[in-house]
Amino acid sequence: MRAERMSPLLALGLLLAGLCSVHCLPENVVVKDQDRRAHVDDHTLASSNTDFAFSLYKQLALKNPNNNVIFSPLSVSIALGFLSLGARGSTLTEILEGLKFNLTEIQETEIHQGFQHLLQTLNRPNNQLQLSVGNAMFVQDQLKLLDKFREDAHVLYSSEAFPTNFGDPEAARSLINDYVKNKTQGKIEELFKVLSPETVLVLVNYIYFKAQWKTRFDPKHTEQAEFHVSKNETVQVPMMTLDLKTPYFRDEELGCTLVELTYTSNDSALFILPDEGKMQDLEAKLIPETLTRWRNSLQPSRIHELYLPKFSIKSNYELNDILFQLGIKKIFTDAADLSGVTGTRNLVVSQVVHGAALDVDEEGTEGAAATGISIGKLALQRTTVRFDRPFLIAIVLKDTQSIIFLGKVTNPTQA
Ligand SMILES: *[C@@H]1O[C@H](CO)[C@@H](O)[C@H](O)[C@H]1NC(C)=O
Ligand SMILES: *[C@@H]1O[C@H](CO)[C@@H](O)[C@H](O)[C@H]1NC(C)=O
Ligand SMILES: *[C@@H]1O[C@H](CO)[C@@H](O)[C@H](O)[C@H]1NC(C)=O
Ligand SMILES: *[C@@H]1O[C@H](CO)[C@@H](O)[C@H](O)[C@H]1NC(C)=O
Repeated sequence: MRAERMSPLLALGLLLAGLCSVHCLPENVVVKDQDRRAHVDDHTLASSNTDFAFSLYKQLALKNPNNNVIFSPLSVSIALGFLSLGARGSTLTEILEGLKFNLTEIQETEIHQGFQHLLQTLNRPNNQLQLSVGNAMFVQDQLKLLDKFREDAHVLYSSEAFPTNFGDPEAARSLINDYVKNKTQGKIEELFKVLSPETVLVLVNYIYFKAQWKTRFDPKHTEQAEFHVSKNETVQVPMMTLDLKTPYFRDEELGCTLVELTYTSNDSALFILPDEGKMQDLEAKLIPETLTRWRNSLQPSRIHELYLPKFSIKSNYELNDILFQLGIKKIFTDAADLSGVTGTRNLVVSQVVHGAALDVDEEGTEGAAATGISIGKLALQRTTVRFDRPFLIAIVLKDTQSIIFLGKVTNPTQA
């Protein structure tokens, strides 16, 4: 066995991002509106999505040190793109810039058309790959959506709409969770652990992915072996092994080794193994340019012994704080402008949740993820009065209106 140790954390975070940058790149989106620039290439969308993926990864890794990290950046990007259909003004700008779009280079319409094209491309039937990506919205019975929002949700984000009685939050939560569970082949069982009582609208994105390795591992060769979680901690894992020719790159500059494993569909998973003790340095260098440099450097090479653990990991995140860190703030506050949804500026995002699951074994990979955004009515204007300077006090007896005490408090700490 090579001296290099397998640490899956990084590879996993990248897996679904990597999938898209391979799968979604080749064609151009033609924008029909004559007044706009003629083309938005998928490359602009993919490079913004990759930038967002790495930024989100860094935040998740920071918040969950020493834990596995797994998420689908694509699912979060699409869900936020969908939400932005209903946002206006600086609330809208924050979401799009948070998604790493440069609004001097790309317009809002082009972004939505980019996602529309991406969804169509990803859902194209492919007999080498099971991939489905979709959106849905669950709408409070009395909530009047603007026709434009309903249409754009349907046309651009292929969203189904389900009337929902949020008056019964548990029933609404089951309805949404069951929908997601069904669309992810049972892999995401409980997207929403709780649903805020003020919820009137929930947007959902889901992804399901299953693919087979072009060169499969032989289960007869899988054996228990050591995996070094840290300097101090070693665990036993089922370690798969293979002798194959596949894209490989030893990156001396960043101190890591890359192996790309290809699926029968020609999509691929990129596994990145930092040198011992170099994980954090590498994480800091995760930027789209690094990924591009890796893609250009990978060369088919014979690997005589590849050892890769078989694993199955899951996650469940609340993304509110992390999105706030990434500059998407207004949606969570009473300054939110989501008036594109109903025409009224009285909605606010209460939760952004994300769940992901990934299984890697001898046959291939199965992964699923979902993102849920719950939107509630803004509480009525909150009133705050703070007695933090000298004040007066009068105590009045109700029946007789007699003042039994009257005073002035200039310093409450004085006896
Ligand atoms: C956005 O694009 C413009 C024009 O290409 C460029 O000058 C600017 O630096 C970019 N902004 C960011 C934040 O990348
Ligand atoms: C999902 O729902 C469809 C239609 O109701 C059903 O045919 C299918 O068996 C369900 N799949 C799962 C995994 O529950
Ligand atoms: C490893 O063990 C040493 C001594 O038992 C301890 O001081 C150190 O904090 C441990 N390091 C980690 C990363 O757990
Ligand atoms: C994958 O790529 C190979 C080599 O370029 C090609 O022969 C094969 O048809 C491709 N398979 C699929 C499913 O696209």
